[in-house]
This record gives sequence, structure tokens and C-alpha cells, in this order.
Amino acid sequence: MWVQIDKISQYVDKEVTIKGWLYNIRSAGKLMFPELRDGSGLIQGVVSKKEVPESVWDDFQKLTQESSVIVTGMVSKHPKKEDVYELQINNLEIISIADPYPITPKEHGVDFLSEKRHLWLRSPRQASILRIRNEIIMAIRTYMYENDFILFDAPIFTPNACEGTSTLFETNYFDLGKAYLSQSGQLYAEAGALALGKVFTLGPTFRAENSMTRRHITEFWMMEPEMAFFDLNDNMDLIEDFLEYVVQRVVKNRKKELEFIGRDTSKLEKVMKPFPRLTYTEAVEILHKKDIPLIRKTANGEEHIRPFPWGEDFGAPHEEAIVEDFDKPVMIHRWPAGAKAFYMKRDPENPDLVLGVDVLAPEGFGEIIGGSQREDNLDLLLERIREHGLPEDEFQWYIDLRKYGSVPHSGFGLGIERIVSWLCNLEHIREAIPFARRPNRIRP
Ligand code: 4AD
Repeated sequence: MWVQIDKISQYVDKEVTIKGWLYNIRSAGKLMFPELRDGSGLIQGVVSKKEVPESVWDDFQKLTQESSVIVTGMVSKHPKKEDVYELQINNLEIISIADPYPITPKEHGVDFLSEKRHLWLRSPRQASILRIRNEIIMAIRTYMYENDFILFDAPIFTPNACEGTSTLFETNYFDLGKAYLSQSGQLYAEAGALALGKVFTLGPTFRAENSMTRRHITEFWMMEPEMAFFDLNDNMDLIEDFLEYVVQRVVKNRKKELEFIGRDTSKLEKVMKPFPRLTYTEAVEILHKKDIPLIRKTANGEEHIRPFPWGEDFGAPHEEAIVEDFDKPVMIHRWPAGAKAFYMKRDPENPDLVLGVDVLAPEGFGEIIGGSQREDNLDLLLERIREHGLPEDEFQWYIDLRKYGSVPHSGFGLGIERIVSWLCNLEHIREAIPFARRPNRIRP
């Protein structure tokens, strides 16, 4: 019977067939120990010269790393290790002998691995990360479905900016002039929320940011819920409930993979609501207490500005200092208007602030969520569009949403690769997506 390696524990003392690839092979006299992978996991096989036909023994000698094979054998429990299984192999069918494989189980430089990403994906660590990514997306979709959100797919070609005009990818669009790759599905999700109540988008988004940080890619996936009649507090309550669900489900269902890649899951088990909520101003006070300056690039190096000036956006060192004393995601709300997008609603108690919220992951993983209550007043929204120098004509459809039954509404955006990086404890976001797009990389 053909079975997947991750289901092998159900077949102890039974004969099974595995279809996959040779990851590695060791031999010790009259025994060989091929390690096989099939996409769902890894298993060690045992081939004994005296128990298999000569042709099978000889065929195993021909196998190179990544040769594709079908093997049959009896499943047994590992004599010493708990929850580890082996395959006592009795037959082998070779599908294809692989050319000398460029990636061996030894260490390689990251540039080389990125060039060979189409093959690097096969390494057990990369495959584990992608299985965890799959679980994260399933958890998100399940939470949304079970909480009555409607999937609302936003377009990728858009006529207008959402998150500032400086990071747009531009393309020609037939006779209609310029189109831009979507920076965010939010504005469309707002139309969706007024049609369907609670919606979410989940798709690729694009930012033409020429930044080579460990947390930025130019094409990333974002999940954006948008809810009619939700204010900032309702939004934060939702974020907390949602993140707790996603993290706990991933820890429960993918513990094996998380442990395989060396993730300390006890830290993730602590991600239970309530999460700390700080105002931006309180977060700046933490920076003052810890004496973390604003660092500005100048013509001849860097300038360190102390104390951190109120009104500036946070960079990685600020985010790290703010979350340092917490073991849960930290929600920072009520931001200076100048640091945030045009659509955020002003705080009725202080017009210098907007009702925005950013969520910073613990352990220094930085911002994973950005959200806000939206400006629902027609005149104020028009003022903001003008202040930000955005083309009013292209926003007419969005402005209509404030003319026809405007309501308070809120939403947020979760960066999929950011949450993958956090849950998998990744040094670099390039491992969080099958084929990362960065300013210096578009291949493979
Ligand atoms: O904070 P951002 O720019 O917010 C929005 O796009 C809103 N329209 C969301 C909303 O309210 N519906 O981006 C949201 C999240 C960030 O917190 C981050 O997780 C991720 O998207 N993100 C990126 N991830 C990887 N690479 C980049 N260059 C990213 N830029 C943003």
C-alpha cells in the first residue's frame, strides 16, 4: 500500500510502499541506510544484504542523491528513539537516477542556495517551513470562515495607490494609461465590508521598496480583514483573538516541524490573550527610558538623535527595544498622523493622532500587522486625499463609499511572510515564501 511518510506510525509491522527521493545514504558493511523523503517527511530505511535479492542490493549502490525511487518494506519502531520509525526495505524500483546534485547535506552559502532555490526547497528544513506556512494559511482561513468573514478577492491591477505613491510598481494598461500593482487590497475590502459586513482578502501585494532588510520583500502575501461597524477597540479585540487562534493551532498541528527546525515552541505557547496595548506615546517613553536614539542617514554617515523625537516612525532597533520586556505580541495604537496613511481616522480626542494600530511580534521579529479605524467622514477624507497629494479623480469610487451609507469601520493587514518568519524563528524573510522577490533577485 502506498503511504505518506508522515502517516507511517499507523503502519507499524505492515508492509508499505513509499514513493519519493533519496536524500542521503550511508553504508556499513552488509547494511545500507538510505534516508528517503516524499514531501511529507523523512524516513530512514534499512537494507540488509542477506535479506534482499542481489539485484535490489546492487540497485541501491547505483543511487545518487535525489534519485527518484519507489521502495517497499516493513515499518518498524526505532529500537531506541520514541516516535521514530524505520523501513525494513525489501524492494526498490528506480524511477530516475539523478545527475550529481549541487546541494549536499553539508553547509552552503546563502547566495548559492538562493540561486538554486528551485532545488533548495527540497531540503528538509525548507520543506518544513513551507508546511508550517501552509498551516498558518489554513488557520487564517479557518478562523475567518468560522467567524463569518466572507472571502473577498481584491484586484492586483489598480489605478491608485493605497500606501503612498513612492512604492508603486507601474505598468502600461492598454489604452487606459498607467496601472499599478496592488500595494494592499484594503480600499477594495472597504467596499466589500459595506456590501457584506465582514470580509477578508488574501493575496499577493507589491511594494517597490529598494530596501535590503531581513524583513522586506517586494512581493508579499497579505491577509486583510475589514469590518463594518467596528471601531479601533473592536479591531484590537479581533486581532488578539485571531492571533491567539492562529498561533495555538500552528503549534498544535505542526509541533514536529517547528521542533525539527529548532523553534522553541514554549515561547509560542505563551501567545494567549490579552496582549499588551500601548499608545504610541507610551512606546516613545520606553525608548526614552532605554535611551534608544533615532538614527538618520546623512551625507557622511549617520546622525543619532536623542531623545527619540515624538512623531517619527519606528525602525527595527526601536521595535526590538519596545517588545523586549514582553513575551506576547504588543499592540501599539494612536499614532502621530504624519507617520501614517491617508485613510486613517483622526482620534476625536486629539487631532494630531490617528486611530491606527501596529502589532509587533515578540522576540524582536518586528511589525506583523498594521491596521486602523478608517476615516468615514466625507469632507475629512477629501481633505486627507488632497493633503497627501493623491489624484482625487482616481479615488471617486472610494469616496462614494462615504456618500452612500457611510459607517464607522476598521480593518488590518497581516503580512504572511512576517508571521511565518516569527513562528519559524527565521533569520531572514527569504525562507518564508517559496520564491522570494527582492530588489536584487527575480530568479529563479
Ligand atoms: O502596514 P501596512 O503597509 O498596512 C497596509 O497595507 C494596510 N492597508 C493594511 C490594512 O489595514 N488593511 O502593511 C501591513 C503588513 C505589515 O504589518 C507587514 O506585516 C506586511 O504587511 N508588510 C510586508 N511584508 C513583507 N515585505 C514588505 N515589504 C512588507 N510591507 C508590509
